[in-house]
Amino acid sequence: MNKNIVLGIEGTAWNLSAAIVEKDKILSEYSQPYKPVEGGIHPRDAAQSHAANMKKVISTVLDKANIDPKNINGVAFSIGPGMGPCLRTVATAARALSLLLNVPLIGVNHCIAHIEIGKWLTGAKNPLILYVSGANSQVIALRNRRYNIYGETLDIGVGNAIDKFSRAFDIKHPGGPKIEELAKKGKKYIKLPYVVKGMDFSFSGLVTAAINAATKESLDDVSFSFQENAFSMLVEVTERSLAYTDRDELLLTGGVGANSRLREMLKIMCEDRDVRFFVPDKKYMGDNGVMIAYTGLLMLKSGMTIKLEDSTVRPNFRQDEVVVRW
Ligand code: ATP
Ligand code: FE2
Repeated sequence: MNKNIVLGIEGTAWNLSAAIVEKDKILSEYSQPYKPVEGGIHPRDAAQSHAANMKKVISTVLDKANIDPKNINGVAFSIGPGMGPCLRTVATAARALSLLLNVPLIGVNHCIAHIEIGKWLTGAKNPLILYVSGANSQVIALRNRRYNIYGETLDIGVGNAIDKFSRAFDIKHPGGPKIEELAKKGKKYIKLPYVVKGMDFSFSGLVTAAINAATKESLDDVSFSFQENAFSMLVEVTERSLAYTDRDELLLTGGVGANSRLREMLKIMCEDRDVRFFVPDKKYMGDNGVMIAYTGLLMLKSGMTIKLEDSTVRPNFRQDEVVVRW
């Protein structure tokens, strides 16, 4: 029997999202994002929200796909990295579904799923990858069947840095889109810490300095300067990694990839270097169930399934631990 249909569930942090993918077609997708009432993402609250919405999300994707559930060949879920309580909630649902449908369980690395959906949707073949999200900021390339990390943040991810900065001004989570809007109105560049160490970067000092700067300067100007600074750091390391790995393709992925200024800066750098720049549809840059179902399908076809008893979640799972067999 051909193994072509996988149901995938994502829920490592803010977005509970499921999808059913058949070969290269999305049959259905549905999300119930968690929105904190105040402050940032609280792992236990988020997990409770995921648990409360699980039945609705799963039954909606099953209904919308318009297939007999018996035709589903595997159940994939984000096994890590992510927030422990959220991961456990999703894993419990995935295990139950795999037992119910009597199909294999597939534990997908969340970061690899961000990359694979980007490759699938853009047609990039062998790119260097800039993965920028809330918790992660990494420059990655596939080499010897592993997604090797060439540069990464030494402290917090660039998305969390932006969210932290915006929370100081009572902007609702996630702050990224709002800071982008404010930054568009900014005109004056204010000097902020620019921390690149070898192939790595750091953002936490930038957050503190930017919050301080906003006591004297307008929030528009500080937001503008924050973005210019943080994104230049990312572009610098990405450019160096392109030279080092000798790649002629760059793929942008992760929630912060939605930012138009970051895209613009990367595009200019890529044009200068004759590198093709690939950017997936915004909808699939942030966390989504399609990326889990699709990566799950690649893994299923390569025999990368797991036993129920081995399906413990992995909050600190790094993508270079996975041998890419597909
Ligand atoms: P991961 O586990 O991969 O780190 P995540 O939970 O951070 O995933 P994503 O959806 O990949 O989730 O990314 C969310 C982040 O993207 C948030 O920090 C949010 O502020 C940021 N973001 C979203 N839109 C924009 C934007 N337009 N500009 C800047 N940042 C943005
Ligand atoms: Fe993510």
